[in-house]
Amino acid sequence: MSQEMPGSAAIAARAGSGGTHADAAAGQAPSDQPARQGDAFENLLHEDRRFPPSEEFAARAVVTGADYAEADADRPAFWARQARELLTWDQDFTQALDWSTPPFAKWFVGGKVNAAYNALDRHVENGLGDRVAIYFEGEPGDTRTYTYAQLTDEVKKAANAFESLGVAKGDRVAVYLPMIPEAVITLLACARIGAVHSVVFGGFSADALRSRIEDAEAKLVVTADGTYRRGKPSALKPAVDDALARDGHTVRNVIVVKRNGQGVDWHEGRDHWWEDTVGAASTQHTAVGHDSEHPLFILYTSGTTGKPKGILHTTGGYLTQTAYTHRAVFDLHPETDVYWCTADVGWVTGHSYVTYAPLINGATQVMYEGTPDSPHQGRWWEIIEKYKVSILYTAPTAIRTFMKWGKDIPAKYDLASIRVLGSVGEPINPEAWMWYREVIGGNNAPIVDTWWQTETGAQMIAPLPGVTATKPGSAQTPLPGIAVDVVDEQGQSVPNGSGGYLVIREPWPAMLRGIWGDPQRFKDTYWSRFENMYFAGDGAKKDDDGDIWLLGRVDDVMNISGHRLSTTEIESALVSHPAVAEAAVVGAADTTTGQAIVAFVILRGDAVDTGDATVQELRNHVGHEIGPIAKPKTILIVPELPKTRSGKIMRRLLKDVAEGRDVGDATTLADNTVMQQIAASLKK
Ligand code: WT7
Repeated sequence: MSQEMPGSAAIAARAGSGGTHADAAAGQAPSDQPARQGDAFENLLHEDRRFPPSEEFAARAVVTGADYAEADADRPAFWARQARELLTWDQDFTQALDWSTPPFAKWFVGGKVNAAYNALDRHVENGLGDRVAIYFEGEPGDTRTYTYAQLTDEVKKAANAFESLGVAKGDRVAVYLPMIPEAVITLLACARIGAVHSVVFGGFSADALRSRIEDAEAKLVVTADGTYRRGKPSALKPAVDDALARDGHTVRNVIVVKRNGQGVDWHEGRDHWWEDTVGAASTQHTAVGHDSEHPLFILYTSGTTGKPKGILHTTGGYLTQTAYTHRAVFDLHPETDVYWCTADVGWVTGHSYVTYAPLINGATQVMYEGTPDSPHQGRWWEIIEKYKVSILYTAPTAIRTFMKWGKDIPAKYDLASIRVLGSVGEPINPEAWMWYREVIGGNNAPIVDTWWQTETGAQMIAPLPGVTATKPGSAQTPLPGIAVDVVDEQGQSVPNGSGGYLVIREPWPAMLRGIWGDPQRFKDTYWSRFENMYFAGDGAKKDDDGDIWLLGRVDDVMNISGHRLSTTEIESALVSHPAVAEAAVVGAADTTTGQAIVAFVILRGDAVDTGDATVQELRNHVGHEIGPIAKPKTILIVPELPKTRSGKIMRRLLKDVAEGRDVGDATTLADNTVMQQIAASLKK
């Protein structure tokens, strides 16, 4: 793992998302990077704009600053109170936290709880059955509304259907679905019966799906014929057929939602239409409590090696922290708010803040299937106006895209319902933060920038909108009950005004419980860099006020539009192409997507470089191996790659090239002419 001190590299990445130079938006590496690098560093220390909550907002806020003091006094007791107040337990727990065998934590030991019961049945029992749970907006404009009572029935039907196909507690279910209500229904049905869901983002390829199905040994796959993308049908089922074409998997059944009506190949005996199985099942199903530490889901995420990690989450702690943060960070008033998180269920945000937390908290939410520009660039604002969305949770990459499209578009819609704005997935640059505040938030909705990861399960660093005076660009403060720090190379806490590595010093309820099937990798990846601390992989700074600024990854993980991909994963995909001898991939600063994938490729001696055609062929190859989201934006064919004497590729130098900077210190190169050779070949 390359872990450079988050000095120049991380800060350059941060500067790159600065977005002050519109010219770089077209994807050309900005030419003025060196100057901006220094500026960004200075700006981080001297941001003195502050936006305190209005008195009115603060007076109505669901949590106050008292939570910080309570959690500081006794962290496990604070979380135990949240667990008991936010969830209905079938059996109370006897111990808040067991940390006797770190890094393996147990939260709410001895407790029994059912996630689906907490998300659904209990609201119906409490007289809220008629409250809308989901307003679904399909890309073609079809809509569906589910009340809590209706959603409860659908989940019970799905639970019965899955059980009738032999899925039992502890079995794994792979989910490959678009953003439709059946995705939420499937996840909750799994949770209800104690099956472990493993969602694979619909943008991943058949190969990626296959490796995840095989690693988790899934018994059932739930998919759809397809979805819609920018007005056109887009297939999903063929990837499932491909993934299951080879023997050696454990899948017995495939349930297929009919979504876009496109034709599908049918495997008699294995495939079942959703409407024939779930549709025909009974609405009678009793939920039983599962152990607090019962596995809830696996979600694969990119690490620093080629093989994605199956991040494992369990039940009681995960539900508690997702519910607490959703309520506190968005100031949720479930009786009046309409909440919309734009994340896809294929990512952790779509698990924690679409499927679980909002429903546990009894919220009304919007779910949208399509892209922001379909059929026109005002679609999101139209949806906000239509449903009177009051809390919007999205990613900086989307905000920067809207900035490019111009403020005239949102100006055509009534966005007055908005009262809280959330950001997640990557650092939000102050310019985008201000635009979000002014143009979308009408200059008064607090912005909550939320830092967390697939591994943390729930938000970890964020302002509390009724308490914190927010600061453009900074996630600011660890949430109550969360012990975050920034440390130096030796693991010593850095003083205010300094940078280092982001760590978590104490266990937290929603923390990952491991990597599926690989406890050693869990220890090595997160718990070995610093003693007794969780290493997040991010660089960070404490400013003069002690507020935390996230500076991007310090390892070989890239963040493309808030989606995580590893450089090595894409390199492996490239070298699996017969024309490629060697490849090196870097994430280069990009003003819209945060980072963009740039690949440097050496072709084999016998391969013919056909220029653009070769590049296109290689991009498609990566798309086929991993998925369209992993296609490099730029592929540069080069004669050599910069390597140290021990043969390690110096990605730092390639990043300099990709970002149009002068190449930094190259003295450790085995061959110091390599960078000139690369420069010369790129001029051609
Ligand atoms: C990585 C985790 C958290 C759900 C979506 C991404 C980056 C995430 C922020 C933020 C700066 C952020 C980090 C982190 N990240 N949120 N608010 N500010 N960086 O989950 O795919 O597991 O990626 O995303 O680098 O390590 P993920």
